[in-house]
Amino acid sequence: MDLKRSIYKKIYNSKDGSIDWKWSEKGFNRIALVNKLVSKTGGLNCNYLEIGCDQNELFHSVASYNKIGVDPASGGTHKMASDDFFEKNTKKFDVVFIDGLHEYQQVRRDALNSLKYLNDEGWIAFHDFLPANYLEQHMPRVGKGWPWTGDCWKLAYELSQAEGLEFKIVEIDRGVGLMRKISNDYSVPDLSESLLKSEFDKFLEILDKLPLCSFDEAIKLID
Ligand SMILES: C[S@@+](CC[C@H](N)C(=O)[O-])C[C@H]1O[C@@H](n2cnc3c(N)ncnc32)[C@H](O)[C@@H]1O
Repeated sequence: MDLKRSIYKKIYNSKDGSIDWKWSEKGFNRIALVNKLVSKTGGLNCNYLEIGCDQNELFHSVASYNKIGVDPASGGTHKMASDDFFEKNTKKFDVVFIDGLHEYQQVRRDALNSLKYLNDEGWIAFHDFLPANYLEQHMPRVGKGWPWTGDCWKLAYELSQAEGLEFKIVEIDRGVGLMRKISNDYSVPDLSESLLKSEFDKFLEILDKLPLCSFDEAIKLID
């Protein structure tokens, strides 16, 4: 049986269900949240880094003059993979938006690298922490006719147990992670042994342990 057929069969037989997050009714998206972060951390002078820019939908909407965008395929300012960017980078950032390769271990590296280059008052945001169903988070991606969060949710679960970091997931736009350092002595647990092969049923199991918050609550936190 080919990969696609076996996945469809799994969905058909699944008792995992799916979640109707009602994203279109939330009234805000990642662009609104990122611009709030930028306005609180230097405004037009904010040092902004975006990992994964694609068509520059977010990148061109960020109201700062100091922007770096990293993407090996399209958009941004640096045509390269995030690992290569961080290998040479020396700049510090006020806001980082992580939205590159949506694979748990890559997004984990992006988060740890970003923390190293984050100013003390800075923020890191992430896209796609809340999948709606098995297919949306399936690794590798199957088909293009629906949104794909990848398995970034595994990192979200680790960040929810991190020390020295404040972490929330804002319930907008397929789940926007929001994080800042509260100590320079931070640590993120490595749960890869139990998470690497996990699927949507595990996400449903851990969902009530994730620190979800509304857009309003996130704005209060940022203020
Ligand atoms: C979902 S899109 C980004 C959308 C954009 N952030 C926005 O909100 O408008 C993901 C992008 O990540 C890029 N990407 C894939 N692997 C990457 C990597 N290793 N480093 C940086 N970007 C990567 C892809 O080329 C793609 O353009």
